Amino acid sequence: MKGVGAIAPTSSHTARRMASVIEVESGLPVLELGPGTGVITRAILERGVKPHQLVSVEYSRHFHEQLVQRFPKVDNRLGDAFDLDEVLAERSGHLFDCVISAVPLLSFPMERRVALIEDLLSRVPAGRPVMQITYGLLSPVIKMPGRYEVSHYDFVVRNLPPAQLWTYRKAG
Ligand SMILES: C[S@@+](CC[C@H](N)C(=O)[O-])C[C@H]1O[C@@H](n2cnc3c(N)ncnc32)[C@H](O)[C@@H]1O
Repeated sequence: MKGVGAIAPTSSHTARRMASVIEVESGLPVLELGPGTGVITRAILERGVKPHQLVSVEYSRHFHEQLVQRFPKVDNRLGDAFDLDEVLAERSGHLFDCVISAVPLLSFPMERRVALIEDLLSRVPAGRPVMQITYGLLSPVIKMPGRYEVSHYDFVVRNLPPAQLWTYRKAG
């Protein structure tokens, strides 16, 4: 996982914790960012999301090709999470139930992280979360009172290294 922001794939326990926020009953698709080896993709499908209802955006061609082989019915897209209008194309204007993200945010400047979170929140209904995994102690995205809410969701020790899960929601 060198160069992708992690030293080992996400544990299946962590992946299930991330997927646990999905409300399958909403009938809305789910957006996954940075699926890498597909551990979180699998947990999302095991949560009950139909493969065609999962849009998964991966930047690395190598991982993307593996994901297409492993999850042929998932809507796997090769592209940049910071350029979703282009990557999502015809699905761009549509709402998702939530976003499950493993994009290594700490590798990007803060203003790009904030812009990404706000872009993602424009793609989910009010109250629904963007779920983000990170390995730092603090939220990888600073608070922006009045713009979005930041909540610590879990500290998962059954992960190498231990992972922090954060959720972001539109400010009520
Ligand atoms: C920490 S790894 C994901 C780990 C994954 N949960 C696993 O267990 O394999 C981060 C992933 O995000 C992808 N990535 C990084 N920047 C991205 C971007 N801008 N858009 C989409 N994917 C990106 C990397 O290629 C990598 O697969």
